[in-house]
Formats: sequence, C-alpha cells, structure tokens
Amino acid sequence: MKERRILLVIGGGIAAYKCLDLVRRLRDEEMRVRAVMTRAAAEFVTPLSVAALTGEKVFTELFDLDDEHEIGHIRLSREADLLIVAPATADLLAKMAGGHANDLASTLLMATDKPVLAAPAMNPRMWLNPATQRNVAQLEADGVHFVGPNTGEMAERDEAGPGRLAEVPEIIAAAKTILAERRSVTPLRTGRPLAGRHILVTSGPTHEPIDPVRYIANRSSGKQGHAIAAAAAALGARVTLVTGPVTLPDPPQARVIRVETAEEMLRAVQQSLPADVAVFAAAVADWRAAAAPSEKIKKSGATRALELVENPDILAAVGKEPAQRPPLVIGFAAETGDVVAYAAKKRKAKGADWMVANDVSPQSGVLGGDSNTVHLVTANGVEDWPPMSKQDVAERLMLRAAEHLRRSTAAAE
Ligand code: CTP
Repeated sequence: MKERRILLVIGGGIAAYKCLDLVRRLRDEEMRVRAVMTRAAAEFVTPLSVAALTGEKVFTELFDLDDEHEIGHIRLSREADLLIVAPATADLLAKMAGGHANDLASTLLMATDKPVLAAPAMNPRMWLNPATQRNVAQLEADGVHFVGPNTGEMAERDEAGPGRLAEVPEIIAAAKTILAERRSVTPLRTGRPLAGRHILVTSGPTHEPIDPVRYIANRSSGKQGHAIAAAAAALGARVTLVTGPVTLPDPPQARVIRVETAEEMLRAVQQSLPADVAVFAAAVADWRAAAAPSEKIKKSGATRALELVENPDILAAVGKEPAQRPPLVIGFAAETGDVVAYAAKKRKAKGADWMVANDVSPQSGVLGGDSNTVHLVTANGVEDWPPMSKQDVAERLMLRAAEHLRRSTAAAE
C-alpha cells in the first residue's frame, strides 16, 4: 500500500476522536493522510492533534484565501487515491446524497473523481431514520462505498443499536480492498453494471443446536458466497449478505446480517426482500434437532437417538414465492456425483432460474478450498465453466446476472 494517498474527511460527531487512531493506523500502512475537518469536527478533536499525526497541514472551514491559493479544493480532492469520510454523520451523508457543496468537506466530496468510503456513525434512531436510509441507498447507487455502522452501545447512556463507527481495522480493510480493486480495474468493473440493483446473497453453513453447547454443522466456509457478495458490490450493487457462522471478514461494502440457524436465515432473507437478484450460496443444514433442551444433555452410558426434523428450504421458499420473487433467483447445487443432472432437477423443484452446480466430493477440494469447477444450469441448457478461483466464479456470475437484468429491462421498455 506504499504511496497511497488518503484524504480523510472528519465529520462532527463524538466518534471523531477515533480518527486519531485511524490516522495512526493508516500511516502504519504507509499511506499518506491529509485531513479535512468540518467546523463541527473541530469541536470534538483539535486540528492541531490531527496535524501532529498526519504530519500535514489540516484543512478546516477556517482556511483562508492564502491556503486556497496554495492548494485549491479541486486539487485537494483529486490528489488522493481514496477519500474516507469518518465519522460520516447524518448531516454529511445528507449533503453528499443531495449534492450540496456549501462547506469545504461537502465541496471536496462533490469535486472528487476518486472513490469515496463512508464510515457512518450516529445515534441509532438517526441511522434508522428513513431519511438517512434513503440517503445511504442513494449514495450506494451512486457508487459510494460503506463500512459499518456497527451495532452496540452508544456514547449516550442507555442508547444501543446500529450507529457505532466501524472499528479502525475494519475501515483500514475496506480502504485496502477499494485501493486494490482500483488497481485491477477492468472496463466492465468501472462500468458498475449492477448500480441501482439490490443483490441478496446467502452464505456459509448454518448451526442447528442440539442443546446449549452442541450443534449440527457442515464444512462450508462461506468463501463462495462472500466472494459473490464482494463481486456484486464491486460491480455497483447494493448488497445484503445473510451469513451463517463463518470466520471470514465481512465484504466491506455489503450490509451483513449474521444468523445461526436455517430458520433465522429464512426470516432474515424474507425481511431483506425485495431484491433484483437472490443468490443462495449457503449450505443450509437440511435438518435440525426436533427438540433442543435448554439444559446440557448428560451422558447416561446408553445409546442415544437424535431425532431430526427437516429445515425449511430457503431457496424454494423464495423461488416459488409469487409476490416477492426476485426477477433472478440463483441456487447452488452441491453434489458428490451426477452433478449436472441433480442440479437440473433441483432448479425445477426449487423454482430457481439458474443453478450453479459444483462437485463437492472430498477429492474435489471445493469445500473450504479457494477454487471451484462449476456448471451453470439454466432453462437453456448447461454451460461448463473452466476451473477458476471462487472470486472469478463470483465475478463471472455477477456479470452474467447484470447482463440478464439489462436485457430484461430493455425487453420490458
Ligand atoms: N438450500 C436452501 N435451504 C435449504 C437447503 C438448501 O436455501 N434448507 C439451497 C442452497 O443454498 C442451495 C440449494 O438450495 O442454493 C441446493 O442446496 P443443496 O444442499 O445442494 O440441496 P438440498 O436441497 O439440501 O438437497 P440434498 O442435500 O438432498 O442434495
């Protein structure tokens, strides 16, 4: 990350003090940081301490004409590789979404031609306010990247919920992903063909409790589902990722909903509709324990039977749902033999448009591994894709989805 230049726009909120640590950590990554502070931000941290950490002049509302001659706002916003807005307050987000340019921070954000990463932080009510949510959806459609907010305790007493500034390592990880993507940018990616679309992805395994300490699980790592969420976001989509327990980092630009069981996953998926595309990459446990006692089950020396009942089929519930069915429903078929035939059967049975069929037999190394050999099964037949990384499968699948949506929109017009 050598020589990457960050323009940090510090908004006026209680979380502004965390920017001091953010600056330090960005500099540890050998990034050059210039900071701009709103008038309100200077009430929370002093420009002097920010300047001490960046080692650069800090630009505030109060900068005078001499500074303007020294470095104009256009140059300031474009000499960076990435703009980070942290904390992105409700007011700053509203200004950005509305295209206002009435102070230095909003002017820079309007004038830039560089990617922007916003790390919102505000009171949970303000975050959940429809106006803020509208502004965030607009900014996502415009290509602004988001990290956080996280859920938890707020600075105000007795206030908890979504609105905490993402942790500094999360902001750094999101920044690095965006900077890395910009390097390998392809014309299709810059075209953001999924802008304005909502893509819903399920990923990971589910855990089904047997008692408070034991559960039924499977070997899914979530790598393929998470890669799809990341690829969709990189192509401009607003992404909701509903994931079972995984050890992977969140894809930076996705809204992540963490669940444990199949039933929780179904609820989260239904609450996240409508979507333009739903991709079911989760390895949902087919069964759950018929009863999961609240006390730990004790050994008794005798054989013990575990009664299992079938879990709801999430893909089928959405694929066959006439009211909220997304225009494109994609399922995965994990098979250990007769891969394509089983996938074609599942496509019809579950009401999916496409099935991505893959061989998950132990010798394939797919489960937990980094690459995948898939077959795309659609109503028109089967396409065999060459072996490729899970990232490439994800990007290719999302580009196909973008093309499919473009054609259906064009046909409808
Ligand atoms: N799926 C789902 N909900 C379930 C089971 C599966 O949404 N309860 C989805 C998976 O996310 C995947 C597709 O259905 O997109 C097929 O999953 P797979 O495990 O291959 O199929 P199953 O229906 O579980 O069939 P089987 O295990 O009997 O092969």
